[in-house]
Amino acid sequence: MTPDREFRDSVERALAGVSPRVVVLSEVGSTNDEAKALAREGAPHLSTVVADSQTSGRGRAGRSWVSPRGAGLTTSFVVRPRLPVESWTLLPLITGVAAAEAVAAIAGLSVALKWPNDLRVRGRKVGGILVEAEPPRFAVVGIGINIARVNFPEELREIATTIEGEGGSADRALLLREVMTRFAALLNDPEGALRRYREMCETLGRDVRVERAGVVIEGTATGIGGDGALEVRTAAGVARVTAGDVTHVRDA
Ligand code: BTN
Repeated sequence: MTPDREFRDSVERALAGVSPRVVVLSEVGSTNDEAKALAREGAPHLSTVVADSQTSGRGRAGRSWVSPRGAGLTTSFVVRPRLPVESWTLLPLITGVAAAEAVAAIAGLSVALKWPNDLRVRGRKVGGILVEAEPPRFAVVGIGINIARVNFPEELREIATTIEGEGGSADRALLLREVMTRFAALLNDPEGALRRYREMCETLGRDVRVERAGVVIEGTATGIGGDGALEVRTAAGVARVTAGDVTHVRDA
């Protein structure tokens, strides 16, 4: 069997009963774009795109995401939440909990979340999430998790890691099944998801620097609001951060 065929079979087997439609690609620009196209054609909730590699993977805040062939889990799935649209701001956090708990369960690593949803092991990023929503019709949840050891470019060496680099291991298909099963359950219990998020979020209690559109906020992260916003106590009062790049000051 060719490696491509083997990959496709293992993903299809793992997602049987979890995802109603599974598209497995050897290479794609961005799985988020593929999943969005499927969603616009009417693909049902939890339809999934998985790729062995991406050529123009996208990260948050306009950054790129590198997905070398066979090195990690690169996936996006369509979500048609029953949640009111005002609560869709919780989707990135719900996904973060699902993915972090899945990595912990499958790879045996201790995983924390940096607000909003960087998956971190020992302070280094092992996975990222990009949720793109077209409310009220759908959202696309994109997840990239680094599994195999890779030679990161110089600028990522100190801040990125992989499951194998941390002494764990994970089968991509089984990891994906675990993520999606947990995601589907958490979507029905957003309050519970938020409780778990607060327990796993290593940003809470830390001194942070938040930058968004040239505006900088510095203070202590004291809470996560019911809508997923990060609450930062500053000299001028409590600021609610709904988007932006957070630096944990002691990490910097
Ligand atoms: C981030 O931390 O900046 C988010 C990274 C999200 C990367 C994943 S890989 C699968 C999906 N397709 C994309 O183009 N991006 C997401």
